[in-house]
Amino acid sequence: FGFLAKEVKRSPLFSTLSADDISYFKRILGEKNVIMDEDRLVTANTDWMGKYKGSSKLLLQPSSTKEVSQILKYCNSRRLAVVPQGGNTGLVGGSVPVFDEVIVNVGLMNNIIAFDKVSGILVCEAGCILENLVSFLDNQGFIMPLDLGAKGSCQIGGNVSTNAGGLRLVRYGSLHGSVLGLEAVLANGEVLDMLGTLRKDNTGYDLKHLFIGSEGSLGIVTKVSILTPPKLSSVNVAFLACRDYSSCQKLLQEAKRRLGEILSAFEFLDEESLNLVLNHLEGVRNPLPPSMHKFYVLIETTGSDESNDKEKLEAFLLHSMEIGLISDGVLAQDINQASSFWHIREGVPEALMKAGAVYKYDLSLPVQKMYDLVEELRIALGHSAKVIGYGHLGDGNLHLNVSAPQYDDMILAKIEPYVYEWTSKHHGSISAEHGLGLMKANKIFYSKSAETVQVMASIKKLLDPNGILNPYKVLPHCVSSDG
Ligand code: FAD
Ligand code: MLT
Ligand code: ZN
Repeated sequence: FGFLAKEVKRSPLFSTLSADDISYFKRILGEKNVIMDEDRLVTANTDWMGKYKGSSKLLLQPSSTKEVSQILKYCNSRRLAVVPQGGNTGLVGGSVPVFDEVIVNVGLMNNIIAFDKVSGILVCEAGCILENLVSFLDNQGFIMPLDLGAKGSCQIGGNVSTNAGGLRLVRYGSLHGSVLGLEAVLANGEVLDMLGTLRKDNTGYDLKHLFIGSEGSLGIVTKVSILTPPKLSSVNVAFLACRDYSSCQKLLQEAKRRLGEILSAFEFLDEESLNLVLNHLEGVRNPLPPSMHKFYVLIETTGSDESNDKEKLEAFLLHSMEIGLISDGVLAQDINQASSFWHIREGVPEALMKAGAVYKYDLSLPVQKMYDLVEELRIALGHSAKVIGYGHLGDGNLHLNVSAPQYDDMILAKIEPYVYEWTSKHHGSISAEHGLGLMKANKIFYSKSAETVQVMASIKKLLDPNGILNPYKVLPHCVSSDG
């Protein structure tokens, strides 16, 4: 993908891997966890979109915090750059090397350490796959406070490091609220034990927050403690159609007011997103009769009183139909139908991948303005590409995606900096939930002041003076120490 080579140069401050380095890693990790196999490296060097590709020659799989610490201490002294990698489902080029950085994946650290049924606090290693945590908690009568389409591959350490938002944020809030503690290994190998399990702890600066959302640039997260909500008995999902974007907005306002305490998701997708899913994913069908609806909304409620909750949702749907906010809709009759509705929404990223090249933007914007950008970009791009909009409307988070047969600099030039400038002008964020990674490291100033970025750079310098952790990512090249 052309722009990488143009914008980023390998830092001369970093060493290249030697035979002695490999021997050292084999001594501490054992042969089988020092991976140099070509096929496995191709996978680890390539991101989920197939858009960012590194050329690392080494993937390390530590089994304990001590091993992570030994790896980083060594890499720091040798000035070997490192990419922390989890499930490699990140969407901003943050999880793969840019050049020959050593890949460190904590996937073998996948133990559940403790679960307290009274408080609902789960303590686990960072390599646990989100879906496995979901299954474990299900048996205990609890759920994870976050859910996302990549749950089958992403690791909780990756979720924490990206501060992933997902499909339930509207109800359970961000990981800055539900992560109660974590353990992280700094670039010099020092282990920071902040694995508290307290709801309240005002003793000094709450440093765990630095690691939530810092995308592997400040340390490797090795353990996490997280507050999990109880699993409630009544879950309802409705798939609705709206005539126009203004109806979606009003529906959101109504849903917050009338469903309040039971609302657990409010997602939207436009007609183009639905068509993409119907055309590219097998076995998916539109639950509504074909019509000219422009927008679709998925509403989920979660509560503890089955008859009351259903009655409440039905009354809400009826009222919304009567006042014309919904033009059609269907309420899932069982768990299979509910998951088929979710499959449509969660399937959009995969359908986009199957459709060809994709330019992905993940924006926080005022809900009233959000869809104007999609329409304006559609006009700017004409027939050269499809512009699609979907996302977490309940959180003011638009996923603006441009789908084209192949990557094309002419298309890119029409999208950027236009999308970033538009977002900045409307006081939005150029990364609502995916992070900055490599894709947006140099775009940070659209959302953060120079002074703020300078403080970030100072923190980076303090925790990782040699800049070995995830170089070229997150911070702009003008302030980072990776050259
Ligand atoms: P990776 O992709 O491996 O890494 C992501 C970043 O975290 C990288 O910068 C990496 O260096 C760092 N990292 C990973 N593990 C660690 C660790 N242990 N310590 C320190 N740094 C680490 N994101 C959302 O916010 N909401 C969504 O709804 C959502 N849906 C998605 C749906 C699909 C189909 C896909 C493919 C992605 C989606 N994502 C979503 C994006 C992605 O951010 C999340 O999938 C996830 O949080 C990344 O976790 P991961 O384990 O795959 O991390
Ligand atoms: C989603 O909400 O589906 C994810 O954030 C992935 C994406 O935006 O493509
Ligand atoms: Zn999302």
